[in-house]
Formats: sequence, C-alpha cells, structure tokens
Amino acid sequence: MDLDSGAGLLHRLTSYVTDREWDVPVDDPRVRTDLVPNDAATLPPPMKGYVGLPVLPLPRDLPDPGLPATAALAGQPAATQPLDAAQLGRVLFLGAGVVRVLEGDGRRTLFRASGSAGARFPLEVYASTHGVAGVPDGVHWYDGQDHALVQAGPAARGSTTTLVVTGVPWRTGWRYAERGWRHLYWDAGTLLSQLLTAAASAGLRPRLRSLFPDDQVRRLVGADGVHEYPLALLSFGDDDPAVQPAGPAASGELPPVELPLCTAAQRAGDRDELGTPWPEGPPLQDVPDSPSVDQVILRRGSQRLMDRNRTVPPPLLEWPLRAALRGVEVPHWVAVHGVEGVPPGIYRWPDLQRPVRAGNLREELLRVCLDQGLAGDAAYVVIAAAPLAGLDDRGYRDAQLAAGLVEGRLHLAAYALGVSASGMTFIDAEVPALLGEPDDVAALLFTCVGVPAYASRRGGAPGAPTAVRPVTPRLVPPE
Ligand SMILES: Cc1cc2nc3c(=O)[nH]c(=O)nc-3n(C[C@H](O)[C@H](O)[C@H](O)COP(=O)(O)O)c2cc1C
Repeated sequence: MDLDSGAGLLHRLTSYVTDREWDVPVDDPRVRTDLVPNDAATLPPPMKGYVGLPVLPLPRDLPDPGLPATAALAGQPAATQPLDAAQLGRVLFLGAGVVRVLEGDGRRTLFRASGSAGARFPLEVYASTHGVAGVPDGVHWYDGQDHALVQAGPAARGSTTTLVVTGVPWRTGWRYAERGWRHLYWDAGTLLSQLLTAAASAGLRPRLRSLFPDDQVRRLVGADGVHEYPLALLSFGDDDPAVQPAGPAASGELPPVELPLCTAAQRAGDRDELGTPWPEGPPLQDVPDSPSVDQVILRRGSQRLMDRNRTVPPPLLEWPLRAALRGVEVPHWVAVHGVEGVPPGIYRWPDLQRPVRAGNLREELLRVCLDQGLAGDAAYVVIAAAPLAGLDDRGYRDAQLAAGLVEGRLHLAAYALGVSASGMTFIDAEVPALLGEPDDVAALLFTCVGVPAYASRRGGAPGAPTAVRPVTPRLVPPE
C-alpha cells in the first residue's frame, strides 16, 4: 500500500503514536489544523435534513420473527417473512433507529440501535425499494428518529431492494478529525452487522457488497462525494441490486465542511464495477439458547464499566469469535485476561492452544488503548489487524469494514449470551509489538468483551427512545 497517497496516506497521518496526544494533529499541511475538535459552536446536526419531500411513516409495531439471535448469527436458515413496509422498517430500525436519548449540557444525543465510535453516528441509510408492499418504488432516506421514509429519488433500475449505507465524514471528523474516515467504515461494519442479522432473521437473504460503482451510487442517493459518500450496499436476495439511478436524487442538507485528506482517501478507492456479495461462511452447527434478534439488539449498548474480577467460561470466548468471523478473512488476535482454563496472553485466532505471548497483559492493553479502563477490565479483547502491504485503496476500506462487522457481531453474540462488549480505539504504533508482529501490521479495531458491572437500560420502540443517564467509563491515569 502506498503510504504517500490515498488511503495509505490517511492511515499514516492519522495513526496515533505514543508521544503525541490523540487529539493533537500531526504536523503536516495535508491535515486541517484550523478546526477545533469538539467545538460546541460547530457541532454538526445528528442527521441529514430534507425539506418538502414526500414522507412515508413506517408502522411502529415491529414484526419480530422471534428467531434467537444466536441462530441468526450462526447462519441458520429462517422462515421468509413478507418484505413489506413493516418488515423493511424493522430491519432499518434495528440498525439505524433512534433507541435511546441522552439530555445534558444543553445538548440532546440520539443513540442509534448500533454503536458508533464516540457516539458520533456519522452514517445515513437509504432504501432503494423495488416491490416492497406499502412502499412506492423509489430511493428513500431513512429517518431513524421519526421512523419514516423520505423519498429522495425516483425508482432505480435493477430488480431487488437494496440498502445503501453512506458516511458523513465531518460528523465524526468534528471530534476525531481525519481519523474519522476510518470510523466511517468501523461504524458501517457495526451497523451492517445489525442490518444483516435483522434481515437474515426474517429470511430476507441479505447480501453485502463493498465493491460497487461509486459515482453511480453517489448519484443514486444524492451524495456529493465530499460531504457524504456511499460505503456499502445490502441487497435482499440474489437478483440485480436496484442501484442504477433513473434520475437525479435530492441531496439534502449537510454542513459544508470538507476534510480534503478524507476526500482523497475515498476517491483513491473509487471503482466502476459492481462486485459479488461477501461470502457468508459456513453456518455454525451449535447454537446456544438466546433471546430473539430484536430483543438482543434493544438490550445491547456499549458497556462503559466491566467487572475485572469476574471471568467467563471458554464457550463465551469461542462461540462469539466463531460467529463473528464467519466468512471474514481479516486476521484477528485475542488478548485473554479472564477466561477460565485459557491462560492469559495473546493468541492468534483460531489457535487458542499456544499463545503468541503469554502472561497478564491487562496493564499493556490499558496503555495501548489510551488508558481506557475497559481494555484492562474486559475478560478478553479481540484485535483486528492486517499487513498493509497486501491492501490497495479499496482493500483498505474493506479491511476496516470487515473489522467493524466483526465488532458488531461480537457485540450481538456477547449480549445474546449474557455478557457485554464495547468497541475500542488504540495507539497504532504500539500494536505490532503487542501482537509480536512486524511494523507493517496495521491495527484495524479492538473489541472488549467482559462481564458487565451494571445493566444497560433497554432501548425504546420506534419514536419512543428510552431516556438514559451518562455512565462514565473508567480512565486510568498513567503512573
Ligand atoms: C467502532 C467503535 C469504536 C469504539 N471505540 C470506543 C472507545 O475507544 N472507547 C469507548 O469507551 N467506547 C468506544 N466505543 C463505544 C461507543 O462510545 C458507543 O458505541 C457509543 O457511545 C454509542 O453508545 P451505544 O453503543 O451504547 O449505543 C466504540 C464503538 C464503536 C462502534
């Protein structure tokens, strides 16, 4: 991968290093230094705005097919439900619906069904519908707050309903500057893990594509490629995705702030062809009991405090990892802190017999994860990382997306089995030594899984988010 242009340059210039604080930009003219992170005066709105377009409210009673979350994550078949407005709305809500709301400091934070680094929620979801009962064919933006579709464009050519996930770089860049471009893909993978699981549990045969004609899909949803760009497609079934625009789409309103390094990283990976769907991987035959997909998604949150004195049995390590990594080729490691019968250390999945490094690594994980308590308090921490040499600009996007997908599935598997999880960021420069790997191995994303120290409040129904209070994660000051 070329570290002097495109995604490689962004990776290099946004890598955290040991001796520079995470919120201090690197000294390079290609990163913006004129934007003050976390400035209340420039806080972007939490979602896109549209004025004067047709709005279709979606049914607020969600048709829960009742499939256990573990069965859906295992890839077990599910009875096919009709794809109508209620079922489409259910799938959208279980990925991007507003389920919790936090009021404080004069600000209202809307929490979506799936997590987002720093709660920035920089994604939008569109449905390009074809033959959905109760929904006119067209390109619709999903309003996760009002649980409604806003028709932004005419019916596309192609034959199967397809969801388009887009990213708004400034919404996460407001806090994380250009590194937020990576977060778009982490968050998209996390969101897609829930859209895929929800759709699979209704027998809708979801197909994920990350290779698509970028320019065409931008026109389809009215994204300008600077302030918003498409990240992934999810189609129902094997027919041609409905992604060929038949006319212009409204572009909606977004703040006009550009991060040129992100634009260049995104553009460098642009392609013209539609790829094949991601492999699903063979189904798991062993399926532990769990509540339904819908219940698990509303129950999940990112655990802010884990109990470091409590361990988990080995199946709570092995099953979530097997389920999360179905069909995924990006390499993963696991740092074991508290799993019964598995000595502490770093393991290269799937080999849990021989650690690549043995010993108690809680303090090291804490340091690598910017002194965030969860990394030391978890029962285990899953680490996605890949050699940069093998990636091009598009492959880099895919690797980040895959890491996010694994994070989201781990999250669901953990909550399905009664434990908890949180995504986690890291000091890039420290990860190769942590894993015992060469410097070219780039960290993608960490996920902490462990015993919760408190119970999260269940998310609310469409249009009725649960009010929550903040829980402050433990930040352990360096000695
Ligand atoms: C990709 C990703 C990375 C995250 N990184 C961190 C992190 O470094 N530290 C942390 O405390 N939480 C992290 N989180 C959790 C978010 O803060 C959390 O998802 C967000 O506040 C929304 O809350 P919820 O997941 O409970 O809905 C991460 C989440 C995701 C999806």
